[in-house]
Amino acid sequence: MRKPAETSVPVAPAIAERWSPRAFDETAAITDDQLTALLEAARWAPSFGNTQPARYLVGRRGEPAFTRILATLNSGNQAWALRASALLVGVMVTTNEKGEVPYAEYGLGLASENLVVQAVELGLAAHQMAGFSADAVRAEFALPADAVPRVAIAVGTPADASVLGDPKRVERELAPRRRLPLAEFAFGDGWGTPAL
Ligand SMILES: Cc1cc2nc3c(=O)[nH]c(=O)nc-3n(C[C@H](O)[C@H](O)[C@H](O)COP(=O)(O)O)c2cc1C
Repeated sequence: MRKPAETSVPVAPAIAERWSPRAFDETAAITDDQLTALLEAARWAPSFGNTQPARYLVGRRGEPAFTRILATLNSGNQAWALRASALLVGVMVTTNEKGEVPYAEYGLGLASENLVVQAVELGLAAHQMAGFSADAVRAEFALPADAVPRVAIAVGTPADASVLGDPKRVERELAPRRRLPLAEFAFGDGWGTPAL
C-alpha cells in the first residue's frame, strides 16, 4: 500500500513515498545486501564534528536477536512488528575521549532517517518506535553505560492492511497522513509569518 505525501511541489521520491506502515508481509525476508545498504546509509549520515554517535542492534526474523528485540517492545508494537523482516534498535553513544558527545541524539536521528529513506529506496518500509524498554535492551544486550537505546525500527515489505486483522487497526492503517500546512511550518519576517 502507498500513502504518498501530498506536497505543493515534487520532492525526492523516497521522501514522498516514506510512511510508517504497521502491516508487513510475514513471509518476506530482507537480504544481506538490503540490510547492508540500510546500515551504510545510516553510517554515512552527518554528525556533530563527525562524532558518529549512532549504533544499531540488528536482528532478522528467525534469528535470536530479532526475538530478543521483539521482547523489548511494548505489547501494542509487538502485535504488528513481529511480521517485520528485521528489527533494529538505534543506540546513541553519549561519550567519547573528549567527554560528552554534543548533539548525540540529533546524530542518531539523522542516521535513522537515512536508514528509513534508504529502506523506501529499496522497496521496503521502516517504522520507528519509541514504545520499547531501553532498560530491557540494555540488560539483554549488555550495553555499556554511555550507550543509550533511543528508538526501535521495524523494517519489512509492506503488506495489505488486512494482515492486521482487527478492524480498528486496519482503519488506523488506512487513515490519511496529516501534516501542518507549510504556512505554519516555515517563517520569514517574524515567527508565525509564512516564509512562502
Ligand atoms: C521517535 C519516534 C517514535 C515513534 N514511536 C512509535 C511507536 O512506538 N509505535 C508506533 O506505532 N509508531 C511510532 N512512531 C511512528 C509515528 O507515529 C509516525 O512516524 C507518525 O505518525 C507520522 O506518520 P508517518 O511516519 O507515516 O508519516 C514513532 C515515530 C518516531 C519518529
